Amino acid sequence: MQYTTAGESHGAKLVTIVTDVPAGFALASERINSDLARRQSGYGRGGRMSIETDKAQILSGLRFGRTLGTPIALEIANKDWQNWQERMATEGVAPANLKIETAPRPGHADLAGAQKLGRNDCRDILERASARETAARVAAGAVARAYLANFGVEISSYVTRIGKVALPPELIARKQAVFSTEKIENSAVRCPDAKTTDAIILAIDDARTKGESLGGCFNVVATGVVPGIGHFAQASKRLDSQMAAAIVSIPAIKGVEFGLGFASGSLFGSEVHDAIVIGEAGDGRIQPIRATNNAGGIEGGMSNGESIVISAVMKPIPTLTSPLRTVDLLTHQSREASKERSDIVAVPACAIVAEAECAMVLANAYIDKFGADTLADALVAFNNYIDRLIK
Ligand SMILES: Cc1cc2nc3c(=O)[nH]c(=O)nc-3n(C[C@H](O)[C@H](O)[C@H](O)COP(=O)(O)O)c2cc1C
Repeated sequence: MQYTTAGESHGAKLVTIVTDVPAGFALASERINSDLARRQSGYGRGGRMSIETDKAQILSGLRFGRTLGTPIALEIANKDWQNWQERMATEGVAPANLKIETAPRPGHADLAGAQKLGRNDCRDILERASARETAARVAAGAVARAYLANFGVEISSYVTRIGKVALPPELIARKQAVFSTEKIENSAVRCPDAKTTDAIILAIDDARTKGESLGGCFNVVATGVVPGIGHFAQASKRLDSQMAAAIVSIPAIKGVEFGLGFASGSLFGSEVHDAIVIGEAGDGRIQPIRATNNAGGIEGGMSNGESIVISAVMKPIPTLTSPLRTVDLLTHQSREASKERSDIVAVPACAIVAEAECAMVLANAYIDKFGADTLADALVAFNNYIDRLIK
């Protein structure tokens, strides 16, 4: 399963086409829309999110609520398009009074993109480099999630840090634990601890007052993944390499860890590696499992049957209401960077995008292992596989 997206931030629509979709599984626009709504949420988002109410329309690849095994095309309308039709017209000539963006924002794609493509209007770059595109990713990811649900795989996420405020270490140490959905989704910043949530909200308010922005960290957790997904034999088939590439492809992500991650570099081997014991696996079978999950559910490029736990860090939002200095592309004079309408922080939303990326990688790996044509065939292969795992 793969996806591609198209669409500018203030264009008419965002579109995504998901290809290599097995036939025969149920998909509903409500499920896609609920993930889109989750991506729009989070304290500290900018004005754009109050304009948009993202809804996906399914254009192809489905008949009577089930996948046909053909490409699924999805579109999400940009409500803000009505305010941008002239400035973002796909045809005709530019209006005489067109305002061009010549003050590239440090931290964004503006300058390198303008240099690369020989443009002096940064809007030609920023419209596509904007993370508005990630709404289309979330829609594509919802297709992958719907497929994975048939195999008992669920994916969730939660925020562990925004700026200097982090979940207390004792909760972080339990990062393999899945927090209740209620606790996560009831928090305005998708952080499962009420005290940390309150402190984060204060930090965001403080950043807003200072004209600042913030970044942070989050965990993505995939439960119900059977052992042996991915492959040890080829670099490109390793589950961790695919997962890292997918998560780092999200704008502003600057690092990814699995399980203990960087912290494992300062510990003894015996403190890091997860002892193998006989116990009850997620599906209730007695088989070799891990006493702990410091590996974050992946060893040797394959799932090991424990929850997959991925942590990622998002840098602070580049658009600042008290902007950094930049250089005007036309005059080469020093000036303030441009101000787009912007989020102050988008870590909670970013975590939803990461869920979608994680789902796409896992769905692809399941298809690789259990078959590409139909869900029914894949379930037969899956059940045979489960049966031949240690009995
Ligand atoms: C969900 C989400 C929302 C974002 N919102 C904004 C925003 O409102 N303003 C902004 O300047 N950057 C925003 N960003 C971050 C930029 O897209 C990102 O910093 C930029 O693409 C450059 O990052 P890069 O160097 O990793 O490519 C957002 C990112 C994500 C994932």
